[in-house]
Amino acid sequence: MNLYFDNAATSFPKPQQVHEAILDYMVNIGTNPGRGAYSTALNADRLVYNTREALANFFNFPKPENVIFTLNITHALNILIKSIIKPHWHVITTTMEHNSVLRPLYALKNSINFDLDVLPCSTEGLLDINTFNDHIKTNTRLVILSHASNVVGTIQHIELIGKICKKRGIYLIIDAAQSCGSIPVDFRAINCNALCFTGHKGLLGPQGIGGFLIDDILNEEASTFYEGGTGSTSNSLQQPNFLPDKFECGTLNSPGIAGLLASINYINSNGLLAIQQSEEYLTDYFIKNILNIKNVILFGPKDSKSKTSVISLKHSAMDNSEFSFLLSNNYNIMTRSGLHCAPLAHKTIGTFPSGTVRFSFGPFHNKADLDFLLSSINTLSNNI
Ligand SMILES: Cc1ncc(COP(=O)(O)O)c(C=O)c1O
Repeated sequence: MNLYFDNAATSFPKPQQVHEAILDYMVNIGTNPGRGAYSTALNADRLVYNTREALANFFNFPKPENVIFTLNITHALNILIKSIIKPHWHVITTTMEHNSVLRPLYALKNSINFDLDVLPCSTEGLLDINTFNDHIKTNTRLVILSHASNVVGTIQHIELIGKICKKRGIYLIIDAAQSCGSIPVDFRAINCNALCFTGHKGLLGPQGIGGFLIDDILNEEASTFYEGGTGSTSNSLQQPNFLPDKFECGTLNSPGIAGLLASINYINSNGLLAIQQSEEYLTDYFIKNILNIKNVILFGPKDSKSKTSVISLKHSAMDNSEFSFLLSNNYNIMTRSGLHCAPLAHKTIGTFPSGTVRFSFGPFHNKADLDFLLSSINTLSNNI
């Protein structure tokens, strides 16, 4: 038995419908959307538009044309960070961010003079609302943060943060890499201005497809980031100013988009709530049982309702990479050890520089999988 517990990196397996949709695209459509007037090009157009619409509905967002496709969320975050932030802005983020937020922000500081506050979070990874309020300045223009941590699963109070941002006239960009497909992510309820997603994690789609949803107000603030062919206004040497073409140029990953549409349809037909409840049950079950195993330290929230199904552990007498290796070698259990591209998050929870071993559950796991995992950890914890 192979047990994959690295769904926070990328989900596996993918639903059968996703494999079939990609293959169907490759075999029966295969052409580029937005360029030709022949039947398969129009089929590709329709598929891409239907996927924008499916994403807009999934995230409760009113404008499918403001759904932009990118390669992944790192690509989406780079486009937004580097096309929006202006000199002398004050920007707020947190220590719980993935390097896909932190590195573009730090890189941009080399070329633009703006003020960046990376706010501390609790040892459980939560941003305190008073700390947040206290750091807002008159020139605070943007807050960018993740909905849920990729290290300990902590869910931020983003609706509250969104309310404050809206009241204070501050733009809000959400990194929903770890929340979308696992818990509801509602653009309007959050009151954000842009929401970034990646297709291959909780959304159960293939690698190589992600994107962002942007409202008209924040779009006005953004310049183009890439320029090139869009199949529209080709007489002009300027990048079109309308969406989605403003941010999308070059050939889209249409097979990836086909796979993503199938995965969203899969989630919708199974019910996001059912997925959320199942992952919450498994997380709760794992936490309750792991606390009884000696020589293992659990990080992050202990309450499954305030986190996603991402769990960080440390063995008190074993190196993380050895712990992860033995799980793989002895039991075919796949986990990820180290810093998970989030060094400041590990500093926050007290596990820098060695990091933790991360276990992340998905919609295809069941209690029997966790029983095997728990008994394997238990055996390893006793054999030291
Ligand atoms: C919170 C968070 N943001 C961003 C990313 C980057 O995702 P991608 O590699 O799909 O761009 C990840 C992936 O690990 C993540 O967990």
